[in-house]
Amino acid sequence: MAKLINEGRTRIQGEISIGGAKNSILPILACTLLTNKTVRIKNCPKISDVNNMLNILKTLGGSYYFEGDSLYVDTAKAETYVMPPDLSRELRSSIFMLGSILARFGQACCVYPGGCEIGNRPIGLHLSGLKMLNVSVIEEEGSIICNGENMEGTAIHLDYPSVGATENLMMAASGAKGKTIITNAAREPEIEDLQAFMRKLGFNVTGAGTSTIEIDGKLDIEVPDVVDHKIISDRIVAGSMLCAAAICGGNLNVKSIEPLHISSTLSKLREAGCNLDIGKSNVHISATDRLKEIRMIETLPHPGFPTDMQALLFALCTVADGTSIIVENVFENRFKHAPEFTKMGAVITQRDRTAIIRGVKHLRGAHVTAQDLRGGAALVIAGLAAWGYTTVDNVEFIDRGYERIEDMLNSVGANITRIN
Ligand code: UD1
Repeated sequence: MAKLINEGRTRIQGEISIGGAKNSILPILACTLLTNKTVRIKNCPKISDVNNMLNILKTLGGSYYFEGDSLYVDTAKAETYVMPPDLSRELRSSIFMLGSILARFGQACCVYPGGCEIGNRPIGLHLSGLKMLNVSVIEEEGSIICNGENMEGTAIHLDYPSVGATENLMMAASGAKGKTIITNAAREPEIEDLQAFMRKLGFNVTGAGTSTIEIDGKLDIEVPDVVDHKIISDRIVAGSMLCAAAICGGNLNVKSIEPLHISSTLSKLREAGCNLDIGKSNVHISATDRLKEIRMIETLPHPGFPTDMQALLFALCTVADGTSIIVENVFENRFKHAPEFTKMGAVITQRDRTAIIRGVKHLRGAHVTAQDLRGGAALVIAGLAAWGYTTVDNVEFIDRGYERIEDMLNSVGANITRIN
């Protein structure tokens, strides 16, 4: 396992560009199974979750290559509907492939997916939605075997606006006869990106970004031989870089972003006393020496405060002047970073889904362990403001969603070394 050693007491300063969103590219890669055309994807992040997804596509018979900053994917020769068990267990998003494999082959077979251990992460909403589309689903010995040869469009109401279930069902419904209407759908920007991609493939999908999405089979439009798509920028990486500047009194211009996608994060940074200058596709942050407390952060589905930003804001609260409260409503097990912050001198009381954080003036460097992707990134960012060296173990978690986080931070003033 790799580790990152952070010198600490550094100031983040300068300008940084944000690449494509992990949560956008993963379902879009699954969606490439819905076409026989070559897909050219721009702004693809070079992260390990993408590698895992590409390896799954390859096992199914697809091929891919990188040229410059473009990723070419061709699934015309995909021939199997059985997902590789080992690779699928590595990646929670492998579950998205169930919908696209069903739409492509009429059948699908996979194991329960893996991913960060941030909670139970059940897939009941995915499976019950598929059943409503007239898919037969058999679960046996850890495998899920689906037959969707007679899929039919229908009305599906999600009990909870699950991001993955919404995306999975959008893709499955593209192979069903007739119209599907998903209500209480998730409204994340990445779902709008998936819709934009599906429309380029010729599918009639509307409503993404609202809680009602309609999918109506194939449109009769000419699809070019090479379908071009640019992935939207990663709002969580953007928010992470803003937090990096905020925690050490930094001054940073974060560009190539969609500021509207990060409004809830910006509002919390403002409450913490940061000055924000918001442009069309950038945010300039200048932070004071001591942040103010953030009275209440409650994670919610979009457009509420994103659970993926919770750990990063948690890091800021550990050094803020005052007491902050964070309530994690989305995943039940997403405070695994709390005991690690305690090793750095943070003062935290945690009960169930609520953390009360009494800010200290300084964190101290310590040897800590990333327990999941965002919690790991938060520890790296906390190390920027700590007195002394902070070593973060289990960097592989962080590599799932950040393109070498140390290079990004070092380019704007940090001093972080990776040891493999
Ligand atoms: C996606 C994101 C992840 C983000 C999360 C919430 C991707 C690749 N990942 O994950 O980064 O943290 O959204 O914004 O896009 N649930 C059920 N039954 C289901 C499905 C989900 O009960 O069938 C519950 C989960 O346990 C969790 C909540 O719904 O409590 C949210 O999960 P969901 O929106 O599905 O998250 P993911 O799609 O896994």
